[in-house]
Amino acid sequence: MDKLNELKTICLNNNIPIIRDDIVLFFNDFFKQEWISNVLEIGTAYGYSSYVIHNINKNIKITTIEKNKNNIEIANQYISDFAKVINTDVRDYQTDEVFDVIFFDGPKTCQIEMFENFKNNLHDNGIFLIDNIFLKGLLKKTNSTRVKKIIDKNNLFISYLKDLKDWKLEIYNIGDGLGVLKRCKN
Ligand SMILES: C[S@@+](CC[C@H](N)C(=O)[O-])C[C@H]1O[C@@H](n2cnc3c(N)ncnc32)[C@H](O)[C@@H]1O
Repeated sequence: MDKLNELKTICLNNNIPIIRDDIVLFFNDFFKQEWISNVLEIGTAYGYSSYVIHNINKNIKITTIEKNKNNIEIANQYISDFAKVINTDVRDYQTDEVFDVIFFDGPKTCQIEMFENFKNNLHDNGIFLIDNIFLKGLLKKTNSTRVKKIIDKNNLFISYLKDLKDWKLEIYNIGDGLGVLKRCKN
């Protein structure tokens, strides 16, 4: 088994949520684009999605943020050779670096704040990718107050993005719903 599949198996065995296979297929085309030189990922988990991106295009510089120390330990074993793995809560993270792609796959309750915090870290022609637009897994558990809050916040985030005048959101019906957000061109 190659290292990427080994990592995927460890994630699945430990119930670590990872990007779904049809998102991987989307990534296969998307990250081959030569204009993409760096990516900021929010939500490393064990590093599976970072590993996928690296396997597609080894020239892409990856920075990935994860708050959970146990996850960081595993991620470091698999991706620290090629990715900058940062152990912090994304709400405490600020950088001057400007990225071609910013991938949201972390917390679902502070995505408006994350967008507002990171929009100036995206190149003019850059793209936000947002996983779990549909939150299909959680929709089955709406009797929990915590889950309801996450779903409400996620829906609020999507409405917020749709209402932005200078940005255009496309939602792909793949995986758990993938948002592709770009600045509008004049
Ligand atoms: C869906 S998993 C990421 C999966 C990963 N991108 C992949 O496909 O392999 C979401 C991760 O975000 C992390 N996370 C949640 N809230 C966070 C926060 N406030 N700051 C940083 N990381 C956070 C969780 O610990 C979890 O590991």
